[in-house]
Amino acid sequence: MLHKKGQSLGGLMNKQTIFSGIQPSGKLHIGNYLGALSNFVALQNSGSYNCFFCLVDYHSISEDYLPQEKKAMTLDLLANFLAAGLDPKKSSILLQSQMPEHTELAWIFNCITPVGELERMTQYKDKSQKQVKNINMGLFDYPVLMAADILAYKATLVPVGVDQKQHLELTNVIARKFNNRFGQFFEEVKPLWTNFPKVMDLKRPDKKMSKSEPNGCIFLDDSPEEIAKKLKQAVTATESGAKSAGEENLMLLLSHFGKADEISHFTQDQTTGKLKYSELKATLAKDISQYFTEFREKKEGFLAKPEYLAEVLGQGAAHARKVASQTLLEVKQKIGLL
Ligand code: TRP
Repeated sequence: MLHKKGQSLGGLMNKQTIFSGIQPSGKLHIGNYLGALSNFVALQNSGSYNCFFCLVDYHSISEDYLPQEKKAMTLDLLANFLAAGLDPKKSSILLQSQMPEHTELAWIFNCITPVGELERMTQYKDKSQKQVKNINMGLFDYPVLMAADILAYKATLVPVGVDQKQHLELTNVIARKFNNRFGQFFEEVKPLWTNFPKVMDLKRPDKKMSKSEPNGCIFLDDSPEEIAKKLKQAVTATESGAKSAGEENLMLLLSHFGKADEISHFTQDQTTGKLKYSELKATLAKDISQYFTEFREKKEGFLAKPEYLAEVLGQGAAHARKVASQTLLEVKQKIGLL
């Protein structure tokens, strides 16, 4: 048993519920870590919330993907969660496709969601342009499933990036429509914006760091050699000699991964115009590699134990189901099915 009596998962009653999800659709990078994962861990460890963290594999199949890669991506994401410090004794860690309650609730929500609301979603429009040959219903309905993920647990706090703002607003539209039609049931959902600034691509510092540009992107399981190589090639110079976006990005990374004396050293060099990029890059390479040494070891350990990973998801699902199935029962009563 992973969940022991008396531990925080037991105290569901008086704490606010947090729900968030990440798609298993490729490797995580340091931007994902600083923006999402490390925040999840901090929220979990605060002890102030009931936390649900979901691997949203159903969402991920609405985008082009290779079936033979999906399961490995899911386990990789789970190993990232655990290595970063999410703890199945403190949080419910669940796999969306093991939770039929989410898709059931999504169907019910489909029947109260105006098509026009979904047609406005900018992420749908962007993604449609990226996969013109695969504009499927799942892509269109994606935000409704997201609303169901959240509301199945009556979560009120959702840590996400600002790119999810429109989706969360839609969650509240759906919640209100449900309440108006069937009687007060769901509460307003609030975003918890991640406060870490955007990490930019090392090669093109005007763009957000992204796994689709691996050379400008430091992945969580990059080796120290890879990290050093990518940083060495990071773009820093500007024609005018003014502070460049690349320099700002490296300083941002230093502010998180660097030691206090390094931060003050390089900040001072920056103000006196003596900043040596090669020195900054070498320092960062050392710091980022060190920061993730334990992470890499732990992650390897988890990936070597697939039966443990399956157990974590099984326990997470069992716990989540207690909450979600109750919501579904009440929803079905309210809408007149039971
Ligand atoms: N749409 C989110 C993203 O791409 C992932 C997600 C799915 C999610 N369901 C969720 C996030 C529920 C928060 C809550 O980032």
